[in-house]
Amino acid sequence: MTDSPSPKPMRVSRISLAQMMQPEHANNLGNVHGGWIMKLVDEAGALACMRHSQCRVVTVAIDSMSFRHPIKTSDLVILNAEVTYTGNTSIEAEVQVIAENPLTGQRWQTNTAYLLYVALDDHAKPTKVPPVFAETIEEERKIAEAKERQQRRLKERK
Ligand SMILES: CC(C)(COP(=O)(O)OP(=O)(O)OC[C@H]1O[C@@H](n2cnc3c(N)ncnc32)[C@H](O)[C@@H]1OP(=O)(O)O)[C@@H](O)C(=O)NCCC(=O)NCCS
Repeated sequence: MTDSPSPKPMRVSRISLAQMMQPEHANNLGNVHGGWIMKLVDEAGALACMRHSQCRVVTVAIDSMSFRHPIKTSDLVILNAEVTYTGNTSIEAEVQVIAENPLTGQRWQTNTAYLLYVALDDHAKPTKVPPVFAETIEEERKIAEAKERQQRRLKERK
């Protein structure tokens, strides 16, 4: 492994993806299949971590996800992701999922998910990631909460 890369502010990793839901994304009730949303969440989280680390990443853990509102086909799904924790080789992303009716402009947050990734080098071995740092009080709070989540995951892993 090489020396530690330089720290980066949380804002560097921030990304936003938007996708229109289509009939092929529906479950039997006509709402969007939860598994499809989970796939998009994983992609958004991975992109934020790649943007932060400038490495390929693999998903190691996904915290529990609860959906507070159904998403309908024809809704726009918006995923906002950012890096909230960095360890040595591990990175956490927070992903917020927002559904929007593009005809009325009505928006609602359906869930927030936390995912843990590991950065890999060109030989697919875990590699050091730049430490993330906060520039606002809100970001400081997010980083402190993310540290606690990672401690909990590591305890559960044992
Ligand atoms: C990711 C992977 C390469 C890590 O290899 P490993 O030998 O477990 O490496 P380590 O034990 O050193 O873990 C690497 C980092 O992940 C963290 N980690 C590993 N498992 C974890 C878990 N369940 N929860 C939280 N953190 C975890 C470690 O604490 C370590 O963090 P640090 O470097 O920041 O201190 C390996 O587990 C792997 O290939 N997993 C499959 C990933 C994958 O294919 N995902 C897609 C699923 S289809």
